[in-house]
Amino acid sequence: AVAARSSPDAVSLTQEPVLVCTEAQLLREGRWSGQVHGRDVVVFHHLGGCYSMDRICHHAGGPLQDGDIEDIAGHACIVCPWHKIKITLATGESLYRAIDPATIKQRPPKTRWTSKGVKQRTHTAEVRDGNIYVTLSNDEQKVDSDYYYSEEYKKLVSAS
Ligand code: FES
Repeated sequence: AVAARSSPDAVSLTQEPVLVCTEAQLLREGRWSGQVHGRDVVVFHHLGGCYSMDRICHHAGGPLQDGDIEDIAGHACIVCPWHKIKITLATGESLYRAIDPATIKQRPPKTRWTSKGVKQRTHTAEVRDGNIYVTLSNDEQKVDSDYYYSEEYKKLVSAS
């Protein structure tokens, strides 16, 4: 049988878990940011859970580690400090207020929180023996935040 080959666009990240900080440090500071296998990652502690995602905001490169966490329609979200995009901690989905078409003629029309889909790559953060380990995502499907690790972006940065 021929081995399945992934597409040239597929994302492949090292799967070895990395110890990033102690649980006590994460509880104290609420968040950790740094590199995991060369990837900029942030870990949040929120309401007893640990969440990890790419640190650089998919929208325009904002520092998610400096954002506030808010509850948006029942989803814990990090709010990017640059343009206030709301990203769910659990799934990396970007939420926005969509106008309800049934109310388009009302002033103002009604809106509801809607997902634009997964825009920020999430990773796995877990507690083991008092330490926090991050395992990078094994999802090959590209998401917008992957742009900051692309050849295209590296060329742009080295040319500026
Ligand atoms: Fe994050 Fe624009 S860079 S919202």
